[in-house]
Amino acid sequence: MDNRPIGLFDSGVGGLTVVKQVMKVLPNEDTIYFGDTARVPYGSKTRETVTKFSAQIIRFLMTKNVKAIIIACNTASSNSYDDLVRIFPDIPIFEVITAGVESCIEATKNRRVGIIGTQATVRSAAYERGIKQRMPDIRIYSQACPLFVNLAEEGWTDNDVTRMTAEIYLKEMLDGGVDTIVLGCTHYPLLKHCISRVVGEKVTLVDPAKATAMKMKKFLESRDMLKEGEGAERRFYVSDHTQSFDILCERLLKQHYTAEITDIEKY
Ligand code: DGL
Repeated sequence: MDNRPIGLFDSGVGGLTVVKQVMKVLPNEDTIYFGDTARVPYGSKTRETVTKFSAQIIRFLMTKNVKAIIIACNTASSNSYDDLVRIFPDIPIFEVITAGVESCIEATKNRRVGIIGTQATVRSAAYERGIKQRMPDIRIYSQACPLFVNLAEEGWTDNDVTRMTAEIYLKEMLDGGVDTIVLGCTHYPLLKHCISRVVGEKVTLVDPAKATAMKMKKFLESRDMLKEGEGAERRFYVSDHTQSFDILCERLLKQHYTAEITDIEKY
């Protein structure tokens, strides 16, 4: 038994889609979330910068006495996971790419898949490597969709601008006949309704969040680290105040939370 909270972080609101799945899969676990709203987007930054920002956040989360951390951000997972595990050997750290890779392989029937993510995630080729290792004869279409992050942060989750943006970004992979698309950025599930209308019902959209939460559950069970007792405390921190964080948080998690501002540069 371990009653300490689970820490999660992202560049902004995107990681809340992972918090939502953790709340479903591990309803009694306390969570602490950090959204780096002052420094979003991460997707256009270098690997070194993403690693530096992520390390600061992990240091901050460790001051909150977390028992494990989920990098609820594909950009940080794909660019910085190995470095972060090396820098912080004493805390279990989970990333979202492996769960996305496994769910993608399970979902595809025709072995034509699309990966959408930030520029940094696509540049890292982490999804391609993971998928090809398990299924070498697969055709992968990768597409960076940086504007999706701004649309999600802005709360433009389903309007004409978002639809047209999705049509342009996804055209090539849809023309290529993909039957599965990995939402390889935690902001993208916020646009899922809009994206699914563009791709049509025959294309499966994979969100790695649920499978990541399941991995955390298995880990805590196997180490006897689940929290004892019912009910969970949820705390949210941001590096700058944004109205859309509170609005999206409420829309997604169906409850009002007030995020506390933290000077992350201190860590
Ligand atoms: N939500 C993040 C991801 O999963 C980062 C988006 C960004 O800040 O560019 O990649």
